[in-house]
Amino acid sequence: MSANRSALADVLVERRICVCVGAGGVGKTTTSAAIALGLAARGRRVALVTIDPSRRLAGALALNELSNEPLTLSREHLAPTGLELRGEVCAMVLDPKRTFDELVWQLAPDARTRERVLGNRIYRELSNAVGGSHEFSAVAKLYELDRSNAYDAIVLDTPPSRNTLDFLRAPERLIQFFDARTLRVLLAPAGLGARLAGRAGAPALAVIRHLVGVDLLAEIALFLSAISGLLSGFRERASAVEALLRDPASAFIMVSSPEREPVRESIAFADALREAQIPLGGLVVNRVHSAEAGTADAIETALTEAVGERLAHVVAASEARARVLAERDKVGIGGLDAALGDVPHARIPAFNGGLGELETLGAVARSLFDQR
Ligand SMILES: Nc1ncnc2c1ncn2[C@@H]1O[C@H](COP(=O)(O)OP(=O)(O)O)[C@@H](O)[C@H]1O
Ligand SMILES: [Mg+2]
Repeated sequence: MSANRSALADVLVERRICVCVGAGGVGKTTTSAAIALGLAARGRRVALVTIDPSRRLAGALALNELSNEPLTLSREHLAPTGLELRGEVCAMVLDPKRTFDELVWQLAPDARTRERVLGNRIYRELSNAVGGSHEFSAVAKLYELDRSNAYDAIVLDTPPSRNTLDFLRAPERLIQFFDARTLRVLLAPAGLGARLAGRAGAPALAVIRHLVGVDLLAEIALFLSAISGLLSGFRERASAVEALLRDPASAFIMVSSPEREPVRESIAFADALREAQIPLGGLVVNRVHSAEAGTADAIETALTEAVGERLAHVVAASEARARVLAERDKVGIGGLDAALGDVPHARIPAFNGGLGELETLGAVARSLFDQR
């Protein structure tokens, strides 16, 4: 088992991109931040990107706020982690809509097309709906950061994976969104417009015009012609992004807790990855309880003389609870091991009480990297 643990540290150190995935509340954000810190301790310049809208990353890093702009964390600020940082961590939160606009900005063949698309009302509506998908923008941003060569490593913290496949399907959806045929079908005389009006041809258009306004129809037409200039660029980008996710330099790291429901979700996610033919790079089981000492009875007997019956009983009861949790965790970990096979993994203890955010991060980072 210790061989596997060190193998996870090797995976983390070797890969250029780590994508942390898993159920909600298991410690994805904590683990992502700890991976970034651990890599920075090894001299890397790391981009730590969150697409979790819940501001948890800022909290975990003891910051008031994080934005779309990369923020380099100072060594003084990170001192409570107890890690000696030779490299750097730059943290940022994805702004999906903005990432999407930037993509159009980069891909538009000329300034005129760019303005026509970005200023178009249809584009704004659609990009809010589709660009608002966090997974979707995340992979686009990942590609951009990778290309910028400004970082040695990129760690991506993802939102809870209710729709785990969204992430993997993002590049494909990027293409679909910009496939103007989807819209043309809706707008064709025999399409939705005509059905709305109950008749084909010009009278139908007149009705739609009446319903939605002339401006909107004109804008749809403009949108279709403007976006056509970006289509091939988007296709290329989408396949490049997909290739990046499948690149051997990228690793999907599953974060799970040993509890029953997260274990179930983790196994389902691993299945989805397998189906998409993306290997799982590693497994982090977070918040693992251990109860190494003797049995509760033995503790109670041993302690009674030293601290009195009542206190001995309290200690023994808490020991018994810890044992129940440890047993439960063992079952969960067994389930994960059986389902995921021999994946490099690490177990992180449940750090209880009294630790500040940064102290916790430091402890998690040490636990991830230093368990040889
Ligand atoms: N190993 C651990 N020991 C104790 N508390 C932890 C540990 N890992 C995470 N936590 C705490 O659990 C909560 C949820 O963690 P978080 O990283 O935000 O989960 P997620 O991103 O998966 O939703 C946070 O309050 C965090 O401080
Ligand atoms: Mg999170």
